Amino acid sequence: MTAHIIALGGSLLRPEEKEARAAWLGQFRQMMVHFEGNGRRIALVVGGGLPAREGIELARHATSDLDRLDTIGIAATRLNATILQQLLLDIGCDVAPEIPTTTQEAASLLDKYHIVLMGGTVPGHTTDAVAIALARDSSASHVVIATNVSHVYSKDPRDDPDAEAFTNMSFAQLVEITGVERAEPGVSAVIDPIAVGLAQSMAMRIAVLDGRELSRLEAAIEGKEFEGTIIS
Ligand code: UTP
Repeated sequence: MTAHIIALGGSLLRPEEKEARAAWLGQFRQMMVHFEGNGRRIALVVGGGLPAREGIELARHATSDLDRLDTIGIAATRLNATILQQLLLDIGCDVAPEIPTTTQEAASLLDKYHIVLMGGTVPGHTTDAVAIALARDSSASHVVIATNVSHVYSKDPRDDPDAEAFTNMSFAQLVEITGVERAEPGVSAVIDPIAVGLAQSMAMRIAVLDGRELSRLEAAIEGKEFEGTIIS
């Protein structure tokens, strides 16, 4: 069975209120048990969220070396991946016991385990790009980016009430919004421009959805209709 690759935004591990966080983690574990029960193979590429931003911000006072700042971000992504890995092992899921550091390693772990968690790989991109590369290496047909906005918008909806939410869009339209330049360490866009360029070059379909609503993520993995944006 081909694997499902999910880029899970680090912000999802930090919902504002404690209760919301506990509820989300509980639902997340249930969903993963359900996927495993259905024989699905799932790789979760977890973002760095708040620890990445805090670590990069602290170091930025002392260095402007982008690769060094990215390396701090990568450590945070692996911390978040480890948190979810341990919470899934805790309930007996068939999870790879290591956090792979390359997408090739992750792809071979997917042959052995139902669930593989990883964070970043090397400086210069974010976990969105890692998820695209892992989809390539594990012959997955598409990548789901679970983040904290409902859709890709034409403009930032917080600044512009006229921002249009896309249900379907082309890579050309997405590139117009994100560009293809390397982002600053720790600076979050709806999708990493490097990932957009990579996916476009491979014609890899991307689904973007709000991962706070796990029913949407579940629907996307089950191949059902879901609320979000499809880029193809
Ligand atoms: P994230 O993948 O978390 O980026 O990587 P993000 O866009 O902020 O995503 P969310 O908000 O968590 O969903 C955090 C930082 O870690 C470095 C980059 O500096 C990135 O901004 N990083 C991550 C890498 O350099 N390489 C990687 O493979 C992954």
